[in-house]
Amino acid sequence: MRLATVFSGIGAPEYALERLLGKDNVQIVFACDCGECKLRDKKSKDPLLPEEVEYLESIKDDAFRQQETKRIYSSLRKRHWVRETYQNNYRITEDKWHDDIRFINGKAYRGQVDLFIGGSPCQSFSNMGHQGGLEDARGTLFYSFAKLVRDIQPKAFIFENVPGMLTNNKGETWKTILSIFESLDYKIVFKEILNSMDFGIPQNRRRLFVVGIKDEQKAALFVAPQKIKLKRYAAAFRDSNVPAKYYLGLLGFNFTTTNTARARINMDIIRTEKKNQQFNWNGDFIFEPIAAVQNRPDVLARAYVGQYNGQTGAVRKMTPAECHKLMGFDVRDFIVCENDTEAYKQSGNSIVVNVMEALIKSVIDTGAIQ
Ligand SMILES: C[S@@+](CC[C@H](N)C(=O)[O-])C[C@H]1O[C@@H](n2cnc3c(N)ncnc32)[C@H](O)[C@@H]1O
Repeated sequence: MRLATVFSGIGAPEYALERLLGKDNVQIVFACDCGECKLRDKKSKDPLLPEEVEYLESIKDDAFRQQETKRIYSSLRKRHWVRETYQNNYRITEDKWHDDIRFINGKAYRGQVDLFIGGSPCQSFSNMGHQGGLEDARGTLFYSFAKLVRDIQPKAFIFENVPGMLTNNKGETWKTILSIFESLDYKIVFKEILNSMDFGIPQNRRRLFVVGIKDEQKAALFVAPQKIKLKRYAAAFRDSNVPAKYYLGLLGFNFTTTNTARARINMDIIRTEKKNQQFNWNGDFIFEPIAAVQNRPDVLARAYVGQYNGQTGAVRKMTPAECHKLMGFDVRDFIVCENDTEAYKQSGNSIVVNVMEALIKSVIDTGAIQ
């Protein structure tokens, strides 16, 4: 199966497809992610300056454009953490990695991709026009995604986004997006919000998925993925022997045990993981009773031990490994980024593997991408 992804992050689609078919049966045609960059123009969401975009767009030769894109991006971040995680986990050569979706020539990949998948960052669709044509979306990252679908002509594509895409600009954005997809000559067989807690992962993460299939007859065979009853709750995803650095001191303990609107403790189903939640005591935390840590002098030296719900114990953050498990990655075979700050961002940005897997299976079952 030939897979290409954009906004690839840590490759939830790659991981899901490899889990379904086995590593040897998946060929990654290309992947693309710019990684986290310093913004020089704080008001712009774009790491590149307009003149750099113009320069890169003006380069005719694909290989040179790819190289120049990489050169400019290299000056905007110390390390490309996202690419490192990606390359630690999937087989991809340097020439198949692109740093920015906007500068990929889709025509060069025409007919080479069975399945094309991407979830653009949410700022990618604001300010979109609404006449219904591809040109309406120009200047947005959604435009780049749709243009690649048009130029590559994959057998099927999956587009993922936040549910806010449906209501942005009073629903006009969604109308435009749908009409653009339909104008590309794909049958849209699925356009629904899926929640990862309906697919075996105890996280309340709702995401919009759009599936397009080229072959109309195969498209008619599409059956939406069936929800499954949740059997394992968050406690089943916990690490043991968690390093002391994840335990909170007095301030963190007091904050997380009292600010229930922002921090939640020992929930069965965690809140949506967000890329920055770990930095300001937002999100989900774990309370461990004193019995669990009393033989850990390193933890006792650092953690504040106090009262919570009538019990004495310590509070800790979820570890990056736990966050990845709660996105559906098996950390026995997935290498998590060594930099914690980046690892939290990478898991918070990802798509839940189990949801991706269920959806890809529905596409495979139609026979459209064999
Ligand atoms: C919401 S995340 C998607 C993550 C991915 N779906 C996963 O499974 O990990 C969006 C990603 O798009 C990347 N990105 C943002 N702008 C980009 C651009 N112009 N070209 C390529 N990637 C971009 C970000 O670095 C980020 O990793």
